[in-house]
Amino acid sequence: MNPEGVDTSKRQFLTSALSVVGAVGAGYLAVPFLSQMQPSAKAMAAGAPVEVDLSKMESGQLIRAAWRGKPVWVLNRTPEVISTLSTLDSQLADPLSNESVQPEYSKNSLRSIKPEIFVAVGLCTHLGCSPTFRPEIGPSDLGSDWKGGFFCPCHGSWFDLAGRVYRGVPAPTNLEVPPYRYITDTLIIIGEDTEGAAA
Ligand code: FES
Repeated sequence: MNPEGVDTSKRQFLTSALSVVGAVGAGYLAVPFLSQMQPSAKAMAAGAPVEVDLSKMESGQLIRAAWRGKPVWVLNRTPEVISTLSTLDSQLADPLSNESVQPEYSKNSLRSIKPEIFVAVGLCTHLGCSPTFRPEIGPSDLGSDWKGGFFCPCHGSWFDLAGRVYRGVPAPTNLEVPPYRYITDTLIIIGEDTEGAAA
């Protein structure tokens, strides 16, 4: 009882009790938050580098892999494709890949370590649809200007067979090239490289 005759003991008890409830509540909130912060073994495995065996690849063949939950393409380009790529620069938004995502070693007109083997993340740089592989030249649905490439059906973006985006389409940049390196002449690993750029 204080000098004014007010009994404050109940108020102090209630204040203490509410503080405890608040602390417990915060604890319950913190547990799921912390558990979300810690990657599970499965998530870590999903981010692990991926090996792709090229030994049985035929010229012109596309292999689809997955890395970090994203589609990754490995394309064995024919000599004809490689020579066609050198004729497309004037139609492309970023032919030298200055504005695009790729490791330094693939920042060249073919966007690859070896001319014939092209590696890219198979997601359109507009809104993330997965473009379709259309290697044929001048198909009726795409027209005579089509020189072979990746076509995004969502909003009609065109990419050549180096993943370079054409001018005037919704996609703003070339397809992403992930970090990768050769373990042997016929085995690559996607998700790590010799520059330690990966993950
Ligand atoms: S998502 Fe590919 S053009 Fe829009």
